[in-house]
Amino acid sequence: EKGGFSSFMDKEIHDQPQAVGDTLLGRFDTEGKLSLDEMHIDENVLKSIDKIVVVACGTAAYAGQVAKYAIEHWCRIPVEVELAHEFRYRDPVVNEKTLIVAISQSGETMDTIMAVRHARQQGAKVIAICNTFGSTIPRESDAVLYTHAGPEIAVASTKAFLSQVVACYLLGLYLAQLRGNKFRDEIALILKDLQTIPEKIQRILDEGKDQVLGLARRNEDVGSVLFLGRHVGYPVAMEGALKLKELAYIHAEGFAAGELKHGPIALIDDGQLVIIVVPSKRGRDSLHAKVISNIQEVRARGANTVVIAEEGDEDVREFASEVIYVPETSTLLAPLLTTVPLQIFAMELATAKGLDVDQPRNLAKSVTVE
Ligand code: BG6
Repeated sequence: EKGGFSSFMDKEIHDQPQAVGDTLLGRFDTEGKLSLDEMHIDENVLKSIDKIVVVACGTAAYAGQVAKYAIEHWCRIPVEVELAHEFRYRDPVVNEKTLIVAISQSGETMDTIMAVRHARQQGAKVIAICNTFGSTIPRESDAVLYTHAGPEIAVASTKAFLSQVVACYLLGLYLAQLRGNKFRDEIALILKDLQTIPEKIQRILDEGKDQVLGLARRNEDVGSVLFLGRHVGYPVAMEGALKLKELAYIHAEGFAAGELKHGPIALIDDGQLVIIVVPSKRGRDSLHAKVISNIQEVRARGANTVVIAEEGDEDVREFASEVIYVPETSTLLAPLLTTVPLQIFAMELATAKGLDVDQPRNLAKSVTVE
């Protein structure tokens, strides 16, 4: 039931602290090391893999995009992310040394099932990341890492997405642990940081929701929204755009901020709403400064700039029409926080337009045909 919320989606957005907490639960031993009992793939096989391919559709594929940044950094294994339907029909290079990670909330998405079957025929091992116990994808995989988000009723995915991202981190950290990693200290820090995420999401819900609601109401008539992000903020930008398309039927695109000058900047006109996901100032490689200059570029061309930034980041204020702050966390974990205001924005904008946020037109919760 909706538990007092006006929609399942609203409830599920508010379930996220718990969904993330439950997905972390019981996956650490007494020394705080990761132990994944359900990882029924021989450790030697996992040590010998030389490539990971994530297959998924829709929001689940964006969770895979986040996974790519994290797993490549922690494990030094190349990670490709493929839309399951594109993977299946392009004769992909897959063999015994490939690990397939199939991400699916329902476990019944036919495109993803077909990708899993194809990969296994080529000798690859498959790990499912799934929210639905005993569904087809886990049954047809070699191992499964369940997300414990609880049933997700609203068609557009929210809590399942955050839980998928968490499960991807757990998988990456587990592989790093197994393969003897060079980032021991960083990984210990990440594990500690992960435990603080539920309370930080709760803080966004408690303290940030009204601001985002106001923003959504003021933009009820907007015709197009662009989302920009870099590094893990890039898949977050795409997810923010997808939520807005799905729920509010507004044209929206997510771009890699660095790509702006190679094309999308031509779209910027007076009043164009641009939502920018800004990486932490403490992050690597001066990405923060690079995104700030992207904000300046669109602002100079008349864009209305809404910025999602880390608490304490004062540098963004000068170029932002509005700043939505989220709590601090490690760079790689930021999607678990920055996604939340974007979900609320899409939901509140759709609500302001009088739309049914749980059952958007033309969409099904689980697409069981190819
Ligand atoms: C779409 C849903 O049809 O399928 C999305 O509308 C979802 O919300 C996508 O992300 C993938 O579904 P699943 O169950 O495989 O995660």
